[in-house]
Amino acid sequence: MTIFEAYNDCKRQLQTAGIEDYVFESKQIIKHITGYTNTQILTKYTQQLTEFQQNNLTAIIKQRLIRYPLQYIIGRWNFFGREFFVGPGVLIPRSDTETLIDVCLESLTQKQTPRVLDLCTGTGCIGITIKGERPDSQVSLVEKYDEALSFTNKNAEHNKIDVKIIKADVLKTEGAEGQYDLIVSNPPYINDSDMKTLQPEVKFEPSTALEGGEDGLLFYRHIAKEYKKYLAPGGIMAFEVGINQAEAVSQIMKENGFENVGVRKDYGEIDRVVFGTAN
Ligand SMILES: C[S@@+](CC[C@H](N)C(=O)[O-])C[C@H]1O[C@@H](n2cnc3c(N)ncnc32)[C@H](O)[C@@H]1O
Repeated sequence: MTIFEAYNDCKRQLQTAGIEDYVFESKQIIKHITGYTNTQILTKYTQQLTEFQQNNLTAIIKQRLIRYPLQYIIGRWNFFGREFFVGPGVLIPRSDTETLIDVCLESLTQKQTPRVLDLCTGTGCIGITIKGERPDSQVSLVEKYDEALSFTNKNAEHNKIDVKIIKADVLKTEGAEGQYDLIVSNPPYINDSDMKTLQPEVKFEPSTALEGGEDGLLFYRHIAKEYKKYLAPGGIMAFEVGINQAEAVSQIMKENGFENVGVRKDYGEIDRVVFGTAN
């Protein structure tokens, strides 16, 4: 089987299985099994796959047909221009979260050597990106679960980014020390009823990264109330929020005394980030 035949076969099987992004995914899978770049694939499309590559392709298609996430199969994913290792036990970075990075970087433009705390860090994509974009910052990443922490550590090392990684429970208000210019979090925010209707791929991601309590707002209430004292005057707290949560989270921030509470839309025009200033 040639690379071109393999690509067409992969596309056909994924399309038949109802996978929406079957063209993009097939390209990623062929790149993964051959180790070739986009350009190499274009010039070598008549090359025969080895037996190993064909077996690998068959195994990967089988995994996708049961909706095992492509990102876990490939084992790494791009976020804000950097590569992050992903796999079972850690949430896959989403492009929606890049809006949170935009808000964070803007909030730090006037601050020199800012101190930043990323709560519920998972892969570390938020804190590692902020440190990468603002090398003068001091960034601490907080995560409770060992499975996720093994990815946080690998990702900091892989990207050669110097951050402090802390194993701690955010719901016990652990992990903070001194005052921060920015506290950022993309916490678990799926409510109990939505947990039952997740997309098939999301069901392979850890429930500990998703479950935000009965109404999905558990972490926002806790973080806004208990971590506010760790913000320096004028410091910013910024959250990623789920669809239809922006109003409730804005209200939580106002009730906890935050000023200049605002909302930012993601590239899909969904209210995605809520932020406010401590006085
Ligand atoms: C929605 S994921 C976000 C991961 C990452 N920040 C991102 O944006 O891709 C939430 C993360 O919070 C972690 N987590 C859940 N409960 C926690 C707790 N009580 N304390 C600290 N981290 C927690 C999960 O393990 C998961 O990695």
